[in-house]
Amino acid sequence: MADDGDRHRQSRLFTDDDGGFDADRAREESLPVEDGEVIDTDDLADHQRYLEGRGIYDERNRVNDLTGREWKYATKSVIAEGYPPAVQHDLRSDHGGQKPPRLCAELIGRFSKAGDTVLDPFAGVGGTLLGASFCEHEGTGRREAIGFERTERWIEIYRTVLERENEARGARGDPPLAAQDMRHGDCADLIDDVPDDDVELLLTDVPYWHMDELEQTRNERRTRESKLGSFDGPDGTDAAADIEAGDDGGEWDSKDDWLADMADKFDRFADAVAPDGHVVVFIGDMYREQSYEFLSADLARAIESTAPLTLAANLIWYDPTKDLHVYGYPFSFVPSMVHQNVLVFRLEEGNETDT
Ligand SMILES: C[S@@+](CC[C@H](N)C(=O)[O-])C[C@H]1O[C@@H](n2cnc3c(N)ncnc32)[C@H](O)[C@@H]1O
Repeated sequence: MADDGDRHRQSRLFTDDDGGFDADRAREESLPVEDGEVIDTDDLADHQRYLEGRGIYDERNRVNDLTGREWKYATKSVIAEGYPPAVQHDLRSDHGGQKPPRLCAELIGRFSKAGDTVLDPFAGVGGTLLGASFCEHEGTGRREAIGFERTERWIEIYRTVLERENEARGARGDPPLAAQDMRHGDCADLIDDVPDDDVELLLTDVPYWHMDELEQTRNERRTRESKLGSFDGPDGTDAAADIEAGDDGGEWDSKDDWLADMADKFDRFADAVAPDGHVVVFIGDMYREQSYEFLSADLARAIESTAPLTLAANLIWYDPTKDLHVYGYPFSFVPSMVHQNVLVFRLEEGNETDT
C-alpha cells in the first residue's frame, strides 16, 4: 500500500520527518553490524577492507595496493597501451626511447605500494618519474621516484614537461603532478648514493646495444638504399634515428660487451632493492640482417647469471598504435615490431636480507 511503500522508501533513504536527508541517521544505520554488535571500523580496516567498486583488499598484500580483483587483472601477461598524444608527447618524443608515463604508472601500480620509492637509473625524459607522480591522482597513491640521467638535455625536457603539464592541469582545476628527484650523472656513480634496500621498485628502460661501428659503416649505404637493412629500435623507430636522438648508439663494441655492462650495472643496482622489491626492465627485441635478435632473452640470462635476481615474468607491452611496415614483402618475412618485452625480476631467494 501507498503508506507502507513510503515508509519503506523513507527508511531506506535515511530521510528525517520533514523528508530531508538525515546524515546522522545515515551514518549510524550504515555502521557494519555483526552478531548484533557494531564492529569497530578501525578494527575492520586492520583486517580486510571492502573498497567500493574495486573488490577486497587483502591486508597481507606485500606487493602492491591492488584488490584481489585488480590483482587478477594485473597478472595478464600482455599490456595493450598506445602512445597517447598526452603529457607533452611531442616534447618527450625528442627522445627516441621515451615511454608512455601512463604505462609506467600501470607497472608502478602492479609492483609497488603507495609511499614506496621507485628508481629509474636510465631515466631519459622521465616516463617513470611522471608515472610515479600520476599514481597520486590516478592510482593507489603517490610514490617517491628517483631518476638518473647523464644527458642534461633529457633532464631539461623532463622539467619543461612537468611545468607545462602542471600549467595545463592548473587551468583545468586539477592538482599538480609532484616533481620527482631527477639527478644528473652516470648511474654507475649515482647508485652509490642510494642506501641498500631503499628502493621497492626499480623500473627502467635500458640503453641499447646497436650495431658495432664497423657494421654500422658497412650498413650505412645499404640502409639508405633499402629499408631492408634497417631494424627496429627501442620504440620501433630505426636505430639510426635513436643514435641521432642521442640515445647511446655505438657505446659498446659488441652485443657481448653491452650484455656484460648491463649485467654488471644491474648487479650493483640490486643492492638498492628492498627484500620484497622488484626490478622491471623494458627491452625490445630487434630484427636485423635477416634474423631476429632475441635481446630480451639475452639480457634476462645475462642479468640472472651476474646479479642476485631471478626472472619472474616476461610481460609483453603491445602498442596497437604502432605503424606496420612491409620491409620484406613479397620475399621474406620481416616482423613489424609492435611489442616490447618487460622483464620482471625479484631478488634471488636467500639474497633478501630481513629488515
Ligand atoms: C632507453 S632510454 C630511457 C627512456 C625513458 N624510459 C623515458 O621515458 O624517457 C635510456 C636512457 O639512459 C641514459 N643513459 C645511458 N647510459 C647511462 C648512464 N651510464 N648513466 C645515466 N644515464 C644513462 C640515456 O641517455 C638514455 O636517455
